Amino acid sequence: MNLFDVYPLNDIEIVKALGSTVWDAEGQEYLDLYGGHAVISIGHTHPHYVKRLTDQLAKVGFYSNSVKIPLQTELAEKLGKVSGKTDYQLFLCNSGAEANENALKMASFYNGRKKVIAFKGAFHGRTSLAVSATDNPKIIAPVNQTENVVFLPFNDEEALKQAFADFGNEISSVIIEGIQGVGGIREASVPFLQLIRSLCDTYNAVYIADSVQCGYGRTGHFYSHDYAGVNADVYTMAKGMGNGFPIAGISIAPKFKPWHYMLGTTFGGNHLACAAGMAVLEVMEEDNLMQNAAEVGAYLIAELKQFKEVKEVRGRGLMIGIELPEELNQVKKNLLFKQHIFTGEAKPNVIRLLPALNLTKAHADHFLEHFKIALQG
Ligand SMILES: Cc1ncc(COP(=O)(O)O)c(C=O)c1O
Repeated sequence: MNLFDVYPLNDIEIVKALGSTVWDAEGQEYLDLYGGHAVISIGHTHPHYVKRLTDQLAKVGFYSNSVKIPLQTELAEKLGKVSGKTDYQLFLCNSGAEANENALKMASFYNGRKKVIAFKGAFHGRTSLAVSATDNPKIIAPVNQTENVVFLPFNDEEALKQAFADFGNEISSVIIEGIQGVGGIREASVPFLQLIRSLCDTYNAVYIADSVQCGYGRTGHFYSHDYAGVNADVYTMAKGMGNGFPIAGISIAPKFKPWHYMLGTTFGGNHLACAAGMAVLEVMEEDNLMQNAAEVGAYLIAELKQFKEVKEVRGRGLMIGIELPEELNQVKKNLLFKQHIFTGEAKPNVIRLLPALNLTKAHADHFLEHFKIALQG
């Protein structure tokens, strides 16, 4: 049997990983500023994480949501505390798309409406409604096409006001990334997020903060949307939540009342997933990782802005986009194959840095030094 060939692959096999370092099968060492797409939050094979997962696996790895799983309650309490949303409710699932799917669905159950406002440049996942709310017609199959999703220009306050004025009573939810990731590291403006909050309040629509990539402490705040000083109704999260173990969730405001079978999943919230989730939050708290992300991120952003070759540096904390002119489109490849540094990318010609939140200043300096060389070829 062959693999279904949907991924363009780099010819590298990673066989060992520790912190922000990975090694390939030939023993070559790499600095990992990509984290497998913003997933590695507390560093590869963190000892506390390994121990917690190993201990849990030796006790019970999985049972379904037909029995009590106290680890879920522990995780909800811890997440409430670390995120500052102690009165929110947690629903656990397995991936970012699934988190968004559930959030959109729950919003529609809540207000009985069908329309979703999404934004140009958005990426919310590849499942049915999540992909319909993603601004990439290439990955929307005919069966997923729907008139229920309306795309508006990102950060355009007038367009948003107009949409609510035109059909506000049909709008179920507004879904927005705090910082668009796939869209090229573009931050939602503070007034725009505040406007979403106030229009959703006026029209009883639901404000969904897609924090799958920009959340979980990456920007220095637990949810990057919270820089706007207003709460979302629902926060969706995944990637960094399990440091590589598949776990996702939605944090739901108290006004939403659950009923049995409203949402559900077989794997979501299993024992191993919760152990991974707990380990991540414990390390984040213990090692002040949000503060580190803010500090090392601010340093990197300031230093990157000094490079005259760079068109623009965007982002916050350890979610950074470096936009380069078209003629420097080989820099990402140079970084990987010549300087041995993993980074991400986005269009047009944006290098994305999404490292572990415990990246050190020494790592940052290593990158800056090698970025300079990679710019030369
Ligand atoms: C902002 C955002 N939302 C949702 C998703 C989908 O997450 P997953 O791939 O876990 O389904 C992604 C993945 O890149 C993302 O960046």
